[in-house]
Amino acid sequence: MGMELRVLVVMAMVIALTSAASAASGTATYYKRPYVPSACYGNQDNGVMIAGASDAIWNNRAACGRKYSVRCTGAANDSPRPCKSGSGSITVKIVDYCANCQGDINLSQDAFGKIGNLTVGKIKVQYNQV
Ligand SMILES: *[C@@H]1O[C@H](CO)[C@@H](O)[C@H](O)[C@H]1NC(C)=O
Ligand SMILES: *[C@@H]1O[C@H](CO)[C@@H](O)[C@H](O)[C@H]1NC(C)=O
Repeated sequence: MGMELRVLVVMAMVIALTSAASAASGTATYYKRPYVPSACYGNQDNGVMIAGASDAIWNNRAACGRKYSVRCTGAANDSPRPCKSGSGSITVKIVDYCANCQGDINLSQDAFGKIGNLTVGKIKVQYNQV
């Protein structure tokens, strides 16, 4: 029992460290409806948990359909209370290209509103592909 538990704890620590290491820091903005058409899927509806990719992750369309876990970590400007209190991570699917992007990831308003404060509009995030 003691040995197995220790193995589990070590495994959990390794997983936690690996996922922390692969998470990137950046900023997120949001865009409003209508969410179609999109650069990846044309008029196909992909729901509301979607995002546009900046050049940092777009990779010449390779980002289309990838899913990212995104968490609000703070303010990208001086606004108080940028993160929605108690919010965890959301998962969004890349469906669009964010031209002249003001951040790394341009979330749908629905997705942004789950982790951030819409009034602030631009937040610091940690994101990683899932
Ligand atoms: C949203 O941000 C504004 C501007 O920083 C702040 O005044 C307001 O209290 C925030 N709202 C919430 C619910 O945290
Ligand atoms: C987010 O995406 C929309 C739609 O493509 C675009 O109009 C807007 O400029 C983008 N916002 C930012 C801040 O990059």
